Amino acid sequence: MASSPSLCAQSSEQQGLLQPPTHNQQSNASRLRTAAGWIMVGGVCTLLGTLAAVAAAAHSTQNTPKTSTIKNTKSEPLACPFQHSTMEQHPDLTFFVVGDWGREDNEYQRNVGERMGMLADCYHPSFVVTTGDNFYEHGLRSLDDPLFSKCFTDVYSAEGLQVPWYAVLGNHDYADGSKNGILEEGEYSPRWQVTNGPGSLAAEGTNIASRDPRWNLRQGAWRMSFASGLLDIIFIDTTPLHDKYYGHEWTNAPGGVGSQNVTEQMETMQALLKTSTAHFKIVIGHHPCFSYGSHCNFNQTDGDCATMSSLLQPIFEQYQVDVYFAGHDHNLQFIDKSQEGNPDAANVYHVVSGAGSNVRTGAQDKIPAELLASGKAWMWESPGFAAVSIKDNSLSVDFWDVTQRSSVQSVNKQTARR
Ligand SMILES: *[C@@H]1O[C@H](CO)[C@@H](O)[C@H](O)[C@H]1NC(C)=O
Ligand SMILES: *[C@@H]1O[C@H](CO)[C@@H](O)[C@H](O)[C@H]1NC(C)=O
Repeated sequence: MASSPSLCAQSSEQQGLLQPPTHNQQSNASRLRTAAGWIMVGGVCTLLGTLAAVAAAAHSTQNTPKTSTIKNTKSEPLACPFQHSTMEQHPDLTFFVVGDWGREDNEYQRNVGERMGMLADCYHPSFVVTTGDNFYEHGLRSLDDPLFSKCFTDVYSAEGLQVPWYAVLGNHDYADGSKNGILEEGEYSPRWQVTNGPGSLAAEGTNIASRDPRWNLRQGAWRMSFASGLLDIIFIDTTPLHDKYYGHEWTNAPGGVGSQNVTEQMETMQALLKTSTAHFKIVIGHHPCFSYGSHCNFNQTDGDCATMSSLLQPIFEQYQVDVYFAGHDHNLQFIDKSQEGNPDAANVYHVVSGAGSNVRTGAQDKIPAELLASGKAWMWESPGFAAVSIKDNSLSVDFWDVTQRSSVQSVNKQTARR
């Protein structure tokens, strides 16, 4: 702690913004004590910072997210948050996860993008993962749709973000939200975003990556391996799994949900999980399996989560997935679904990183107090993203909220070598 007096000072400067203590503070302290699998990292200074951040997040449930703090930091370099995570151990691999972001550089998207750019100078992410809803409201309309630049290239222009971006499609990228979607040839279609594999326009000599080579997206299930067997990421396409997306005009767009073979995709996903020999296995999709956000009726297993959790959680447990990252609900969350009392059971952790632009508030207080208190569930409702660091047997997720100058919520998972 002695090595970072300025960070401590910055955290305490924020006290002026804060609400009186809330139950969240207590639950955070409990999490420190009870950490079963999830371990808060850092010391007293980090704890203070975290409490300030959580209290500020509680504040934001009543108000629109504060953005003035990050604007003020624009000209000042942000101190690197080394004491907050495995960063101090020089991680073997780091990457960012952002979701539900593509809103033409609106204020919240811009704030998150700037914060990602600043923190990229600290974390040096090898790549960025998106959890979908890349281009609001309906995806792209052509290969030269200006939205691609307005939502992506022009926003994430910081030097440290000039790394590969691996994306999945969200329901909005499939044209959900448009009345008709496909009215004539050349309108909304997920295929404009696809750079590789089935549905890619590469065979026709071009695809969207010719506009920005960072962009990588495949439909269906696919896998990327990183750092010589340290991490496999399996990307899945979750929109076709939901009945409600069928029967619209856009369902039958080229590459639309109507043209997907869900059985085949589920089989491919399972084969990719089964044959993965990586130390950590992460799955990325758009729809969460468990969430307290509005899409799941503020209830872990209801709404869109009912479909997702019943289809996917048994598979994630069978193949010992470490973390499933999703978006769709516009907040930052983690939910610990590890099976207590059974050391051999799968311990799947669920993270929602869907706060890349607009945030929906009013869900945080729906999390049952006992889950908050035990550290089994947690939420922030302000624009932000997640930074993942992996070192040996340890995977840390640092949640960054743009309203915070130097505070971060970290969770840590230890996985024995397989
Ligand atoms: C979908 O994939 C399954 C499994 O690969 C296959 O048996 C089935 O024939 C496919 N369905 C269609 C309509 O192509
Ligand atoms: C949560 O959703 C489940 C599944 O739909 C339902 O059985 C349960 O009653 C709901 N709980 C609450 C508190 O609404």
